[in-house]
Amino acid sequence: MPATIIDGKKIAKTFKETASKLILMLREDGLKPCLSVILVGDDAASKIYVRQKEKACKEVGLVSRIICLADTCTQTQLEQVVKDQVKDSEVVGVLVQMPLPEHLNAKMALRHIPPHKDVDGFGYANVGKLWNGEFAHNIACTPRGIIHAFDAMSIDLCGKHVVIVGRSNTVGKPLAALCLDRHATVSVCHSKTPDLASMTKQADILICAVGKAKLITADMVKPGAVVIDVGINRVDEKLCGDVDFDSVKEIASYITPVPGGVGPLTVGQLMLNAAESAWHQRNIMRLDKTKKENKAWVESLSQETNTETMSN
Ligand code: GUN
Repeated sequence: MPATIIDGKKIAKTFKETASKLILMLREDGLKPCLSVILVGDDAASKIYVRQKEKACKEVGLVSRIICLADTCTQTQLEQVVKDQVKDSEVVGVLVQMPLPEHLNAKMALRHIPPHKDVDGFGYANVGKLWNGEFAHNIACTPRGIIHAFDAMSIDLCGKHVVIVGRSNTVGKPLAALCLDRHATVSVCHSKTPDLASMTKQADILICAVGKAKLITADMVKPGAVVIDVGINRVDEKLCGDVDFDSVKEIASYITPVPGGVGPLTVGQLMLNAAESAWHQRNIMRLDKTKKENKAWVESLSQETNTETMSN
């Protein structure tokens, strides 16, 4: 029996509905939460992703601010833009679209984003908390979106062998942490893994995120496995994933298509992260207001006391 197709668009719609409700409550309070997206250079795929993020912001009621910088921009200029966005109290999330041109250092730029505005979850604090099993303000969108999709499809990870192909900071590594958290046995494979097929054939759940068109063929997949394809590749002007969809769907139990699988899950999850960050930002603002009111109250009390002392 061919695999059940995991409909990323349909699942992501539920993420966006939740985000929309959270943001509507803030808008009713007079707030205009904004997501800042910084795009450097003209990478064609990045431009498409940024457009998708902009469209999703509109759908959920977030203001989107797209800041385009030339690929000649310096590290100092990039970091200054990040700092300016972080300082803006209407901005609830800041993200730098990856990859950056080679002369720029992404890690240094991300250091200026505090954990609650780091909606990509790429900063040290959020990554450290994820691996430490602590509450992270934000978790990387693709891995978190995939875990939410497992929940939506009632796919239980407990005791399963999850094989992840790709060890990127954006997908492979955070996904490994999340799968361990769900009590899976996790193997992470990469370009130096000898005999990749011998690993992938052991997977109850196989997740491929390397960006190599049709790397995973049917003979590399255990019958009945769940197959998640994170890759987006362009071949002969057509999009395809890292998995040879047509052959693998005949033996897998579940499979994500490309397009329409992991891509929408990532963008939907970003909207959820941004909505949660917006609520966090509002709580900080409320706390600040209360602190200011308390300070003013204490000062007014001491003024009253001084006036009384003077009149006595
Ligand atoms: N490039 C590819 N995926 C992502 C992502 O999730 N976030 C950012 N900032 N850049 C990306």
